[in-house]
Amino acid sequence: NKGNYEHYMQKEIHEQPESLKTTMRGRLIRGGSCKAKTVLLGGLKDHLKTIRRSRRIVFIGCGTSYNAALAARPILEELSGVPVTMEIASDLLDRQGPIYREDTAVFVSQSGETADTLLALEYALENGALCVGITNTVGSAIARHTHCGIHINAGCEIGVASTKAYTSQIVVMAMLALAIGGDTISNQARREAIIDGLFDLPNNVREVLKLDQEMKDLAKLLVAEQSLLVFGRGYNYATALEGALKVKEVALMHSEGILAGEMKHGPLALVDENLPIVVIATRDACFSKQQSVIQQLHARKGRLIVMCSKGDANAVGPGGSCRVIEVPQVEDCLQPVVNIIPLQLLAYHLTVLRGFNVDQPRNLAKSVTTQ
Ligand code: M6R
Repeated sequence: NKGNYEHYMQKEIHEQPESLKTTMRGRLIRGGSCKAKTVLLGGLKDHLKTIRRSRRIVFIGCGTSYNAALAARPILEELSGVPVTMEIASDLLDRQGPIYREDTAVFVSQSGETADTLLALEYALENGALCVGITNTVGSAIARHTHCGIHINAGCEIGVASTKAYTSQIVVMAMLALAIGGDTISNQARREAIIDGLFDLPNNVREVLKLDQEMKDLAKLLVAEQSLLVFGRGYNYATALEGALKVKEVALMHSEGILAGEMKHGPLALVDENLPIVVIATRDACFSKQQSVIQQLHARKGRLIVMCSKGDANAVGPGGSCRVIEVPQVEDCLQPVVNIIPLQLLAYHLTVLRGFNVDQPRNLAKSVTTQ
């Protein structure tokens, strides 16, 4: 049921304040003054020790699920101290890449039925790794065949383009990072800030959804473009990849997510006064590096659309030199949840304006059950 919305994708984008709440419900504990803030993940509690002791954590997924894991990677590395590597399921299978008994392999999948991810799971089980599932579908093949796991609880997602599952996956993996990372004195303030940030996230998402009309106006400006680049780094490298994936998948426009640190190693050659470029430059430890990326793109007359933290328009586009999208600033590791939303809205409006099928993009299936 689409309710008052015209498309499922639109409904699912706007549902995110609620879907995020459902994902966190009963899992975040913020007790009274003497009670520590903590995370409870029932499906993992018997395996946390093994995960903490593993030699590495390997994230495995496809498409948007892979991007969600990429967004969560830095916080998992920071809080757990365990090396985290990334695998696209098909590539792991193509290479028959090494997976060891001492590994924890985390399988991320909205449907829980994606063929490549499922085959990678079989492969990791054969190699003796501890296998953890993060899926949105209770009773799905991945949920059944993993040793333990966490349900995303984002509610049924119908649009082929994954939106609310993406943000809930990031939140689940941030909670996973909190659960694996021990409660030490040295990281207590950081943990509390993240837990507070998680509690505030639905409201911040509600806030950023108010950019709907602004993103519709931007879509009008970009509707006839051939291509759109998205530059991100750090926590928001994943946002760049995921924003570009949304634009190409539903709006059928070429779009590429680029790691900003790679700019000078090739992509800079594409920059001219015509090609639109979204640069994600919200406040975090990478901010000054992104400021210099903006200056360099600017010097080459790049057509910039900069996503920045509220109040930073002048810090990123001196003298109103570029179009800005201002978003609420949240805890750095949760910023990808907020930052993807304007790009989801942009992809949605571009699709409607270009007259393409929003919920069933040509040639694509919601769940890719064949290789
Ligand atoms: O169900 P899964 O999360 O395993 O699906 C993985 C990809 O097929 C999926 O995320 C795909 O990239 C989406 N259609 C992107 O919006």
